[in-house]
Amino acid sequence: MFEQDVPLPPCNFVIFGATGNLASKKLLPALYRLELAGRLPEGLNFIAFARRDWDNAAWVSHMREVLARVGATGPGLERFIARFDYLKGELHDPEAYAALKDVLARPKLGVCSNVVFYLAINPDDFPAVIKHLDGVGLSKPRGLHRVVVEKPFGQDLESALALNELLHRHFDEEQVFRIDHYLGKETVQNLLVFRFANTLIEPLWNRNFIDHVQITVAESAGIEQRAGYYDRAGALRDMIQNHLLQLLTLVAMEPPPSLDADALRDEKVKVLRSIRPVPRNGVNTQALRAQYRAGSSPAGPMNGYQEEGGVAPGSVTETFAAAKFYIDNWRWRGVPFYLRTGKRLRENLSMIAIRFRHPPQQLFRETPIEVIDPNWVILSLQPEESMHMEIHAKQPGLGMDTRVLRLNACYRNPDDQPLDAYETLLLDVIEGDRTLFIRFDEVEWAWRVVDPILRQWSQERDFIASYPAGSWGPQESTRLFDSEQTAWRNSVELD
Ligand code: BG6
Repeated sequence: MFEQDVPLPPCNFVIFGATGNLASKKLLPALYRLELAGRLPEGLNFIAFARRDWDNAAWVSHMREVLARVGATGPGLERFIARFDYLKGELHDPEAYAALKDVLARPKLGVCSNVVFYLAINPDDFPAVIKHLDGVGLSKPRGLHRVVVEKPFGQDLESALALNELLHRHFDEEQVFRIDHYLGKETVQNLLVFRFANTLIEPLWNRNFIDHVQITVAESAGIEQRAGYYDRAGALRDMIQNHLLQLLTLVAMEPPPSLDADALRDEKVKVLRSIRPVPRNGVNTQALRAQYRAGSSPAGPMNGYQEEGGVAPGSVTETFAAAKFYIDNWRWRGVPFYLRTGKRLRENLSMIAIRFRHPPQQLFRETPIEVIDPNWVILSLQPEESMHMEIHAKQPGLGMDTRVLRLNACYRNPDDQPLDAYETLLLDVIEGDRTLFIRFDEVEWAWRVVDPILRQWSQERDFIASYPAGSWGPQESTRLFDSEQTAWRNSVELD
């Protein structure tokens, strides 16, 4: 995907919400790194569209500040900055789009008819932008203008269907890039290779050998300056409906007939469709939510969610969500998939942990080993990208004792440059490659999975459990487990 044979066409790239959190944390650093790698086409101009009453100079000093955090300096930075123009505008103001159209008609370098519109904005504003872009004719020409829609796509199933319908009224499907940046992560892409390029794995990858699967995305950061969005979203919408369910589909899907984008998506959708719907009276046994209260980390005390700026007083928005799903198909029937995510947890840790079953015979019962812990396969996304397999071996020496050997397949060499998911995906957007983007039926079925939980939680507005900031989340999350022997894995290392 990163090999480029043909010169890329000149292009305008409009970032709506250019001064926001996503642009500052992810988009600008990723685009800057593409600049350094020489991957941005010569004639690519960026238009930073935002509400702040700034001129170009103010925007440039903002960019310098943001990019200083990733160590940006030198000619590469100057080249990157020179690509930008700042355009002040209100997302709901038609005049702003007329002004944008004028700016796009005056490209810095030659004729430029290839435009990307990146919606790095609050999802509530997606419909307005989509309508206004079409209103001034910026949805055409069809082949050359594309719109990138960040997640969450809708607030629930109904609003997602409505948003999709609106999008299709103004843009063709080929123009739409629904982004889930987890699909750009190296480990996530590696999951396919791990599963389908190793004959060793596939025969074991089913209900006969796997006891359960845990998918964890833990973040030590709080909600930062995103209360406006987060307080309405919560962890289930922000992470589970998209990132974690995408990971689940890649772990669980059948081998696709080819690596063609649609063949992969078809298999992912089949998994989502096979997830047993959570019954209304099962929400409390299959899902759990909580909110962080004040706590501490080695760096010092931390506020509770209620004290964060912009959070509605008495908010019951969850900052931690965990859920258990069953996939009712031949491969997975009866194997629980436990998903959890949260803000202000002890560490940044994202991993898929697959626990195998106990050996059918406890052969070592009469020896000091007594009970053998089952094997695990761990696919780690963060803090490091790696794969681990834990197997038992005899400890050298007298007697029958075992130790766990960790086969650590860290597949990154020390000199391999780490690549942020956004670098991969932004380049795909520029090149018009939709392979790693989401098809609407994936979004739709993912909403069908979480909707019963959302509906139930939206009715229980009086109380939400809490956990101290800096902990591993609420103790009660263990109640989701089918077996008392199961515990969350909080590390790629054995506890
Ligand atoms: C985003 C969520 O999609 O993913 C954020 O909106 C979250 O709340 C982020 O922090 C996590 O991404 P990553 O790549 O840091 O795991």
